[in-house]
Amino acid sequence: MTQKFYIKGGTPLKGEVEIGGAKNSVLKLMAAAILAKGATKIYNVPDLTDVEIMLNVIADLGAKTVYDKREKSIVIDATDLTSITAKYELVSKMRASFIILGALMSRCKEAIVALPGGCAIGERRVDFHIKGLEALGAKIKIENGYVHAKANKLTGADICLDIPSVGATENIMLAAILANGATRIQNAAQEPEIVDLANFLNTLGADVSGAGTSEIVINGVKPEQLHAIEYTTIPDRIEAGTYMSAFIATRGKGIIKNVFPAHLTFFTDKLLKMGANIKLLEPNVLEVSCKNRLNSINFVTQPYPGFPTDLQSMAMTLLSTANGVGIITESLYENRFMQVPELRRMGADIHQDRNHAIIKGVKKLTGAGLVASDLRAGASLVVAALMADGVSEIENLHHIDRGYEKFESKLRLLGGKIERRDDAIVSPQNFTEGKQKNESYI
Ligand code: EPU
Repeated sequence: MTQKFYIKGGTPLKGEVEIGGAKNSVLKLMAAAILAKGATKIYNVPDLTDVEIMLNVIADLGAKTVYDKREKSIVIDATDLTSITAKYELVSKMRASFIILGALMSRCKEAIVALPGGCAIGERRVDFHIKGLEALGAKIKIENGYVHAKANKLTGADICLDIPSVGATENIMLAAILANGATRIQNAAQEPEIVDLANFLNTLGADVSGAGTSEIVINGVKPEQLHAIEYTTIPDRIEAGTYMSAFIATRGKGIIKNVFPAHLTFFTDKLLKMGANIKLLEPNVLEVSCKNRLNSINFVTQPYPGFPTDLQSMAMTLLSTANGVGIITESLYENRFMQVPELRRMGADIHQDRNHAIIKGVKKLTGAGLVASDLRAGASLVVAALMADGVSEIENLHHIDRGYEKFESKLRLLGGKIERRDDAIVSPQNFTEGKQKNESYI
């Protein structure tokens, strides 16, 4: 049965919210865990469908896995792998599972991994991943929708990426861990998730330096140098940025815990320029509030440390009711403005020309029936609905569930009037708000 969010907007969000582990980090750590024999335990694992998919990919290779959702931990014991194949049924559900290619190449020197197909937000090719592995000595064939990579031995190489691709940097890092000699990745991605992966690998016994800069060096180590570990995932900067946006959009005030503010410097700077108040209360705690109408700004999405593309839609929601005209240029993906027609349905005044969006702030948005086209576009519509007048219904929640742990519960604890209902329930029921029940929301 399909589900929808029913959201009554207009309530300023207030209270405290705790950020979970970073989706885009933990998925890679899980893949990296298969490099070592023994039981590796990862903490601060968010409860997301993407995590379940990655667990299935890893379990399908023969690794033993235990997912303790209460403890927010996963144990992966890859002592005995029985397969080198990541099936299309699994990879097609989540592109990030393609990261298993580099991990399998390290561990088994052979991998058969389904090529991820098209993606709603852009072409998202994997050519840099393939070229990187070839540079390390892998022979690669693409047949029947699968990448079949094989090497007698992998040898360190100098690899310069055409663009600082996150996934390619990670796949090459993983493949190079047990290679002979040194691998140097130039124009490497610098995202915090890359640093987390490097820290994880080094704790495992690998020798990776330079992560977080544009040049990463991996000195190959011997398999017996790798060992099982315990490791805690970094907080999710995009989830944190989403709650920052939600407090600001609703003219609320809240405290965000378990955030690494340094991972959000560019985004925070733009929010401050728009007129939001952001205070660092403790090293990992932010207070975010906004009383007045925001001012418009312009920005271009860029690889880290630039403005994160994953928060572009969130910023567009904020600009939709800001004072003046804001221009967004999306430079990473060809099709990441899918929230635009939905925001227009709420009354936003947005003109889109290829990868530019010109947003003329209106006084207010009004609730509407909306469709989540992808994860971040979907989340930005939730924030838009929370600040709009009236009721919105959002469908295609499976996109949002990929990346936001307990989204509606967390928002309800902040006073957000949001409910998840089965689509079959057509007539609006009583709205339950936190512990208060029986408030009709229409
Ligand atoms: N690209 C290529 N060829 C390649 C690799 C990338 O042309 O071989 C292009 C892509 O088509 C894209 C650009 O390079 O236009 C950037 O892609 P990148 O490889 O950096 O992204 P990714 O690894 O596929 C990760 C995140 C994305 C996030 C981007 C950029 C994960 C699982 N995904 O994707 O997160 O937008 O980095 O920061 O880590 C999300 O969480 O909603 C999400 C899409």
